[in-house]
Amino acid sequence: MFKENFDINLDFFKNKSPPLIGVDISSSAVKMVELSILDKGNQLYRIERYTIEPMPANAMSEGGIVHLEAVSECLQRGWKRMGTRQKNAALALPVTDVITKKIIVPAGQHEDDLVFQVENEASQYIPFSLDEVDLDFQIVKPVSGNPEQVEVLIVASRKEKVEDRVAIALSAGLKALVMDVESYAAQAAFELTLGQLPESGKDQVIALIDIGATVMKINVFCNGESIYTRDQPFGGNQLTQEIGNQFNLSLEEAEAAKRSGNLPDNYKTDVLQPFCETLAVEVMRAIQFFYTSTQYTEINYIFIAGGCAVIPGLNETIASRVQVNTSIVNPFSNMELSSRIISRQLKLDAPSLLIACGLALRSFDPL
Ligand SMILES: Nc1ncnc2c1ncn2[C@@H]1O[C@H](COP(=O)(O)OP(=O)(O)OP(=O)(O)O)[C@@H](O)[C@H]1O
Ligand SMILES: [Mg+2]
Repeated sequence: MFKENFDINLDFFKNKSPPLIGVDISSSAVKMVELSILDKGNQLYRIERYTIEPMPANAMSEGGIVHLEAVSECLQRGWKRMGTRQKNAALALPVTDVITKKIIVPAGQHEDDLVFQVENEASQYIPFSLDEVDLDFQIVKPVSGNPEQVEVLIVASRKEKVEDRVAIALSAGLKALVMDVESYAAQAAFELTLGQLPESGKDQVIALIDIGATVMKINVFCNGESIYTRDQPFGGNQLTQEIGNQFNLSLEEAEAAKRSGNLPDNYKTDVLQPFCETLAVEVMRAIQFFYTSTQYTEINYIFIAGGCAVIPGLNETIASRVQVNTSIVNPFSNMELSSRIISRQLKLDAPSLLIACGLALRSFDPL
């Protein structure tokens, strides 16, 4: 989102010129994706390059940036390793760093009037002075049953959150041209795969759950419109920690053993299965929370993304616990792969590249 770029304070939203690299700054790594377009009408893309550059310990905390310099160096290393010439980047803020609000306004207003109204509304619900925030908005759709009115989505973030990311990109030699929101980027990438659902998922309530290293990000949407987002602290680091404790390994050793599966026989029963059960309970709680805070009473599909999605048997555990059809997301499933890409490796990495992929798609926004 942030798509129509009626920006108020940020000129880097406006000056976008494709192509862009999608850059996801996350707890365990900086992830970058570069796409090219083969056929716009049929949404046919090719993945040209991607990279996952491990993040140094303590540079991030629960998805938030702690050490700007360490993160910037990580980004620079990743960019060099990716071997691209593109320096324009699309980045995103976590949902916890943005405030969103939908308002209803008369349709067909002049842009200046709309800006005035948005600022006025925003000043009422944003708990800081408007000087301290970056504000953007987008007309979402006409109000159903009342074509005289339109729904407008306002997104605001504290300036420093945006500036940190812009500065990190800049000191890594890149230029941040787009600042998106993680949940919107993830949803855009996921929507490339909607064709796998009957009637492309029309009228279905879909929960996209990204389980990374430290945060579980939930986004529930229907017909392309997000109805609920929530980030909660839970992720694969818990499993790494448990492996370290149980088998007396350092966190680095535990992480490597977890990914290679090179662990004693009792790992599955004593460590992995209990973790999957706990994770499934977390998912169930998150869904209960969704039900109690909205008028919805049913979720039709769960899609899992993030590095934890590839844990063998996890989606089955979630499906049986929550009683909802559950699958793993691969945003590249309909894409052509460049000859540089190893398809088996991409399949493993794909669920954790969802946000970076959605950001890379911003290259193809109408100008
Ligand atoms: N093959 C694997 N088996 C088990 N766990 C894995 C595997 N591959 C990756 N992971 C785990 O997935 C997590 C990383 O996922 P991801 O890349 O989505 O996280 P992140 O985006 O960096 O974190 P966050 O979104 O929380 O900021 C780590 O905990 C890692 O150990
Ligand atoms: Mg992540």
